[in-house]
Amino acid sequence: MPRPETRPNPADTTQLQRSPVSLRRVLALFAPYRPQVGTVVALIVVSSVVALATPFLVRTVIDDAIPQQDVALLAWCVAAMVAVAATTALLGVVQTWLSTTVGQRVMHGLRTAVFSHLQRQSLGFFTRTRGGEVQSRLTNDIGSMQSVVTTTATSLASNATTVAGTAVAMAALSWRLSLLSLVVLPPAVWLTRKVALMRREVTAQRQARMADMQTQVEEGLSISGVQLGKTLGTGPAQSARFAATSQELVGLEVRSQLAGRWRMASMSIVFAGIPALIYLFAGLPATSGGMTIGTLVAFTALQGTLFRPLMGLLDVGGQLITSMALFSRVFEYLDLPVDIDDPARPRTLGAASGEVRLEHVGFSYDGDRPALADVDLVVPAGSTLALVGETGSGKSTLASLVSRLNDVTTGRVTIDGVDVRDLTLAELAQVVGVVSQETYLLHTTVRENLRYARPDATDVEIEDAARRAQVHDVLVALPDGYDTMVGSRGHRFSGGEKQRLAIARTLLRDPRVLVLDEATSALDNETERAVQAALDEVAKGRTTITIAHRLSTVRDADSIAVLSHGRVVEQGTHDELVAAGGRYAALAGSPTGAAAVPA
Ligand SMILES: Nc1ncnc2c1ncn2[C@@H]1O[C@H](COP(=O)(O)OP(=O)(O)OP(=O)(O)O)[C@@H](O)[C@H]1O
Ligand SMILES: [Mg+2]
Repeated sequence: MPRPETRPNPADTTQLQRSPVSLRRVLALFAPYRPQVGTVVALIVVSSVVALATPFLVRTVIDDAIPQQDVALLAWCVAAMVAVAATTALLGVVQTWLSTTVGQRVMHGLRTAVFSHLQRQSLGFFTRTRGGEVQSRLTNDIGSMQSVVTTTATSLASNATTVAGTAVAMAALSWRLSLLSLVVLPPAVWLTRKVALMRREVTAQRQARMADMQTQVEEGLSISGVQLGKTLGTGPAQSARFAATSQELVGLEVRSQLAGRWRMASMSIVFAGIPALIYLFAGLPATSGGMTIGTLVAFTALQGTLFRPLMGLLDVGGQLITSMALFSRVFEYLDLPVDIDDPARPRTLGAASGEVRLEHVGFSYDGDRPALADVDLVVPAGSTLALVGETGSGKSTLASLVSRLNDVTTGRVTIDGVDVRDLTLAELAQVVGVVSQETYLLHTTVRENLRYARPDATDVEIEDAARRAQVHDVLVALPDGYDTMVGSRGHRFSGGEKQRLAIARTLLRDPRVLVLDEATSALDNETERAVQAALDEVAKGRTTITIAHRLSTVRDADSIAVLSHGRVVEQGTHDELVAAGGRYAALAGSPTGAAAVPA
């Protein structure tokens, strides 16, 4: 089996220091596969032991069969040699099949567990986590786990049994020569390992430098990079930096080539030197002890097979660290508490009318600076509340509390008198619909994108929703109509179209409470009218909380709440607020306030 060149990676070591993994927990993953794992270990042991027969067969051939011209014995020995080779090869195939199957099953379990666990995390987790990291852990870490883990485990098992078995067989063949091996092997192993480690070190440095050079080429010779360099006048500096990296590579390449050569050299010295020493020892009358030629040949062959497994065992430490670090990363995700979860004893709404109340609501993202403070609002069933206020005043935050994308820090949000935290997330999702500024469309057909909102919707229902959302005409005009693919490798919809698709989705779900975040981007008049008609349609008869960016929305709202620094500073209808001559009136009247109050 090829030994993977695993060097304990500093990142792996720090990962393990930060979140250590118990071996027991890793083993528990494999517990359901105990029979298979047991079989794999048995297969490894059996094939290592069977392989030991070969040197003894060689000895019999040389010492007995050939000198005595015993054809029958010779034939038996040769047949046995072939049988040994065939058996170990077959056992190896079965062992690989079993270990890969078990490994892949365990990985499958982990992958799905991590996926569903992460999906239950709140939005906060995804804003905190660096983009791409989640994906990398799920695909790369778990993906490489199987190979790393099975290689580590099987090479540990096979190397250990081979070393033990070979040592016993060597002692059985000749204890004198075994003593000699005990003296010469350790320094040989030490030397070879030293050279190998040195080579890995140089190789790692060389790879790092190559990566640097790659980055510099990408940065320095791309359109934007060249443009930046020219405008900042840093071209010559960049060239100098590139030259320095390239110069460094010259030295490293030479050292790397030499190290490779040294490795080969040390191996060949060891592989030629040890048998030579054995011959010397066996040939000297003082030490030979009357050894037969067959024993000598068999012993030399055996001790040659000892070297690689020994080196492999020395590598197991590094491999273990890599494997455990992989588990550590994955367990870290699995151990994350789910902060927004179903209640232990959920209540249900029954035939809800959809009155939304916020009672003394406070919220903070970081547990320190409040994003909302002491918000009291009542949105009677079927009415519309418009939220206005300058950027950063907490409008989106407030809206996120109703659908539990965030949970209140203090106070409570209720629907028909029931705290939203007492409802199951599934029921809440049924009752509260959200149309956000950013509409996310999946890479599938338009139809499936709409059906995502309600998997049992019929085609007729889907088209009806699209019609009411003013997007049906757009969709039938597409090359494949409702079956057009959407997304990066499909049709791209404009902002206004996307919004209407989102509205169609919401119409399919038919929620009693609606949270709307109107798009800020300006739309042309016609699109604007279509979107407005769609919004009016979707809001009809529902309790609606709108983050308003259009004057018409604000005017028509049953009530307007003006937010400032996370507090509701005014509330009333448009006419009331204008008449009151407060902040809303000032904002609506002054040109500088136009951004805070929709125009
Ligand atoms: N994920 C987050 N983590 C930390 N702070 C946040 C987060 N999201 C928003 N904030 C902060 O909370 C405050 C309220 O933000 P919010 O998005 O609710 O404002 P907004 O009224 O919707 O603004 P806009 O009109 O620009 O959309 C801001 O100070 C913002 O910086
Ligand atoms: Mg916002």
